[in-house]
Amino acid sequence: MKFGYFDDQNREYVITRPDTPLPWINYLGCQAYFGIISNTAGGYSFYRDARLRRLTRYRYNNVPLDFGGRYVYLRDNESKEFWSPSWQPTRHELKDYSCRHGMGYTVIGSTFTGIESHTRYFVPLDENLEIWQVTVTNRRATKASLSGFASIEFCLWDAQDDATNFQRNFNTGQVEVEDGVIYHKTEYRERRNHFAYFACSEPGRFDTQREAFLGRYRAWDNPAAVEAGELTNSIAHGWSPIGAHQVKLELEPGETRQVVFVLGYHENPVDQKFDPPGSQIVNKNTVKPVIARYLDSKQADAAFERLRAYWQTTLGVFQVNTPDIHTNRMVNIWNAYQCMATFNMSRSASFYESGIGRGLGFRDSNQDLLGFVHMVPSRARERILDLAATQLPSGGAYHQYQPLTKRGNNDIGGGFNDDPHWLIVGVSAYLKETGDWSILDEPVQYDNEPGSEQPLYEHLQRSFNYTLARVGPHGLPLIGRADWNDCLNLNCFSDTPGQSFQTTTNKDGKVAESVFIAGLFVYAGRELAAIADRIGLGVEAATYLAEANKMEEVINRHGWDGEWFLRAYDDFGHKIGSKECEEGKIFIESNGWCALAGIGLEDGKAQSAMDAVAAHLATKHGIVVQQPAYSKYYLELGEISSYPPGYKENAGIFCHVNPWVMIGETRLGRGDAAHDYYSRINPSAREEIGDLHRCEPYVYAQMIAGKDAPTFGEAKNSWLTGTAAWNYYAIVQWILGVRTSLDGLEIAPVIPKSWPGFTATRTFRGVVYKIAIERRGEGNSVALTVDGEAVEGNVVHAPTDRRKEVVVKGILS
Ligand code: GLC
Ligand code: GLC
Repeated sequence: MKFGYFDDQNREYVITRPDTPLPWINYLGCQAYFGIISNTAGGYSFYRDARLRRLTRYRYNNVPLDFGGRYVYLRDNESKEFWSPSWQPTRHELKDYSCRHGMGYTVIGSTFTGIESHTRYFVPLDENLEIWQVTVTNRRATKASLSGFASIEFCLWDAQDDATNFQRNFNTGQVEVEDGVIYHKTEYRERRNHFAYFACSEPGRFDTQREAFLGRYRAWDNPAAVEAGELTNSIAHGWSPIGAHQVKLELEPGETRQVVFVLGYHENPVDQKFDPPGSQIVNKNTVKPVIARYLDSKQADAAFERLRAYWQTTLGVFQVNTPDIHTNRMVNIWNAYQCMATFNMSRSASFYESGIGRGLGFRDSNQDLLGFVHMVPSRARERILDLAATQLPSGGAYHQYQPLTKRGNNDIGGGFNDDPHWLIVGVSAYLKETGDWSILDEPVQYDNEPGSEQPLYEHLQRSFNYTLARVGPHGLPLIGRADWNDCLNLNCFSDTPGQSFQTTTNKDGKVAESVFIAGLFVYAGRELAAIADRIGLGVEAATYLAEANKMEEVINRHGWDGEWFLRAYDDFGHKIGSKECEEGKIFIESNGWCALAGIGLEDGKAQSAMDAVAAHLATKHGIVVQQPAYSKYYLELGEISSYPPGYKENAGIFCHVNPWVMIGETRLGRGDAAHDYYSRINPSAREEIGDLHRCEPYVYAQMIAGKDAPTFGEAKNSWLTGTAAWNYYAIVQWILGVRTSLDGLEIAPVIPKSWPGFTATRTFRGVVYKIAIERRGEGNSVALTVDGEAVEGNVVHAPTDRRKEVVVKGILS
């Protein structure tokens, strides 16, 4: 069953009924001001940091789901009936409801009693504000006398404190209203120099105290002031400041009017906070021109067109046309778009991530670069340098850092022994995309300590050496707190309810080893060697290679189980992910990763491992993490066994790691298998089973319940997941085979046998490559011509002349 449809022409997903199985959201903003918005206008906004600079309040896990948002109400002043054109919060039965989620904007519209309305929500480029353009048309045969209302609830900035510290927060709320603009200035009187505002293009009444607007013991579905048809001009003192505006809409038959609302964030220089100086009144001179500008419909439209153009260019970097519509729309539109969201949000703010728990993950953000770096390389560069600056002198890393402060987050700590290697992966992806070698010379601090600056290249060395200094009894890397699988906690041994598996360690950590990290080390070592080689450090390159080769031997000796790669050794030196185990005999991570890294390609181990994955882990909804699922809690394994079988890391389909197997299959030349796995979790390909899948059909979810779960096939935790970057990377760089390399653009497709070929356009280092692949045989060997000239091998080198456009033809046989 479907709840809408893709409009690929407009790069939109159109939701046609409001009661989707879960709130289906979109992101507004792609630079500093952000919001999440659901298909019924639920959600909230923030500036940079979803926890520390939250503009509007949101109650997660609410009943009904997703209550609170950017709500518009219309009221018929004759019948006194009022409704929400976005369905929530009043939930009237609407005609022609639709929600169009597009690139950085959402339009929600409907008709009720002959009154049609559409609200377009978006964040203009380079501004810290959002615009709501509410367009109302009278489709009745008679004149309509209406009132329009718009409302938001302010958050007192720190979203966590806001939801817990009521003894203080019920006293601090403050607002000002000037020229009809509501200014939320809680704590501005003391240490903040920022405030929020909510403005309306029409004069009218307002409310700023929640109780005055809603009435006692009422909710957003039935605000007393809307019912009465008149806001009260209340001024909030403490309690819960809100922003609500009321406008009059007298519409002749057929007449259309647009009202614009602007919600924004503004900072003043510390010495210009007040006007007049010495008063307690917010200085609004700096923000008034911005507000005036965007309250103008024409300016708002122009800003919207700029946003459209931005996405046209950004997505235009890579566009493809294959025989598979699901591949096309995900690669060309939604998967790339999701990569922007994961780059910006990491794992902080979605319908599942409450925006208070997590900063930016070290491993997560480095991996996110794989799907993002081609879109805005300059921001990728900045991110790499920020991440590297949180690296510890040991080469290890804080597991997370706060985007606002850019400092490592002590509460979560470090010691996840895979973390440092992802920096090598991220930097390598950046170098391959841009050829900007200067980044390696950038002086970067350790642990944000001034004076500790060393070139970024040294950070990479320390990342590599971190593992060399931490190997266990078999010569495999010690796992530390955990590796990629946060929940395989082999040194935790927690028996205390509620204790965090992420921070508790009861073992000295000198025994438990990870085959996954070993594979990652081999991969990262070879990447680093290639980098060192290019910058003339041949001797170092040889050392990295030697160490990587040595580790590969250790994997062959101690990390192979006969038919597949082992997963780990626990604190007793017992195998994990072996046929000898009762549960958890085979895992996806070590098998996917080793094959991806090319380990065992020559001696058949990779193929055997991929065959074992197909036999034991693959399901029709994707590949599960391990089998058999853990049926009980294992003290020595940690959080993985805390989940009921089939969910999350305990044999759920963790979509993030499925692409490792897809890439592994391409390394074996098996394009059919690779694309088949790709299609199983491709959300667009799952659109038809929307009532089972339940999450948005336009973005990946972190997890789909595995075959051991009663809800097999149900997705959860959409949007913010490494799945976005990895699927993008797998389909584009390995299946379609349009791959960045240090030497140039590599063309090495491993596509399904049934595809006659595909065409693509790729802008790479300032040159547009027009690529056409034609299949003439069933294999994967490719004969290339560049502008008609045959070239040796798979790499298209940059044109030596000034050509800005190059035609690349590839014949597959
Ligand atoms: C989550 C985390 C990621 C981790 C994965 C597996 O997605 O954000 O860092 O690798 O879970 O545990
Ligand atoms: C839980 C989740 C895991 C996530 C971790 C991050 O362990 O299962 O997916 O990575 O939390 O805090």
